[in-house]
Amino acid sequence: MKRFRSIRWTAASQLVAVTLVLCVAAGAALAQTKTAAKPAAAAANPYQSALDAAYAKFKSLQEGKNADYIPALAKVDPNIFGIALVTVDGKVYTTGDITSEVSIQSISKVFTMARVIEEQGADAIEKNMGVDATGQVFNSIVAVEQYRGSEMNAMVNPGAITTTSMVDGANRDEIWKKILDTHSDFAGRALTVNQEVFKSEAETNQRNQAISMLMFAYGHIKSEPLRACDIYTEQCAISVNAKDLATMAATLANGGKNPVTRKQCMKVENVPKVLAVMATAGLYDDSGKWLYMTGMPAKSGVGGGILAVSPGKFGIAVISPPLDAAGNSVKAQKAIADVSNAVGGNPYAAKPR
Ligand code: DON
Repeated sequence: MKRFRSIRWTAASQLVAVTLVLCVAAGAALAQTKTAAKPAAAAANPYQSALDAAYAKFKSLQEGKNADYIPALAKVDPNIFGIALVTVDGKVYTTGDITSEVSIQSISKVFTMARVIEEQGADAIEKNMGVDATGQVFNSIVAVEQYRGSEMNAMVNPGAITTTSMVDGANRDEIWKKILDTHSDFAGRALTVNQEVFKSEAETNQRNQAISMLMFAYGHIKSEPLRACDIYTEQCAISVNAKDLATMAATLANGGKNPVTRKQCMKVENVPKVLAVMATAGLYDDSGKWLYMTGMPAKSGVGGGILAVSPGKFGIAVISPPLDAAGNSVKAQKAIADVSNAVGGNPYAAKPR
């Protein structure tokens, strides 16, 4: 019995010993797997790392103020902060709040200009309002008066409302559908209008109405200036999130072809024309500073979005409503500049061979 017990004991201890050995071996294997996985995690995608780093760096920054000359914009949550980057091969990187939507505002000027160039050729824009910087604020009447509505560009309000007036169509609905469809194609999804923002701006846009009348008086808008102003106001109220804007920018970075949906949204030869005007005037009177800092054609909107284009590489966008004195999102400028510097987005920064 004793022996039997001791045999059983020996068998039991052997079993325990074997189990222990197996556990230790399994543990070691697991540890090895974990160590092996580590280098992969450390070598995270450089785009994602750059986005995450910029988000962490600027998340708590409390500078700037929401636009309030359009009453509905003052009510938008100033803490929305989302960053998205879409590469020309269709990879999407995001961080922060990328589901919240803001109104696209002046960023829409880029895509309506693209539409008009598609319909009428690049000359149409150059001849009608010009492709030069005004050096003035985006809704300057002085800029209109200076050259009777010429020598400006499609990114400032007088040029943008005129651009909207140039979209072909038998009636308002037809023109509006073209504009909304163009924006949706660039974003790769069916966009909609924030009706509260549209109504709020339509009730308070007397200055833009005056600008439209002046551009009509000087012969740049050919008909129905107040209708053009109204359609322009509606296009500014299109709702977008950071990923939408980054996809729109990536489409411009990719020769006019949406890298996610693969739809050709504009002719490849027209893209540099749009990018040139963005580089000249995308951030208004701060466009020079912006280009000096990043080298990237970009466009801001008073809703808090900025998108920027690194041609042949990626589109990037940030949404954060508080703006600086020029009407450009404070966090968006800083975050885009940081990400771009980290991943080599500046198109002027060629490496010597
Ligand atoms: O026309 C306006 O004043 C606005 N709907 C758009 C202005 C704007 O977004 C200027 N951008 N920074």
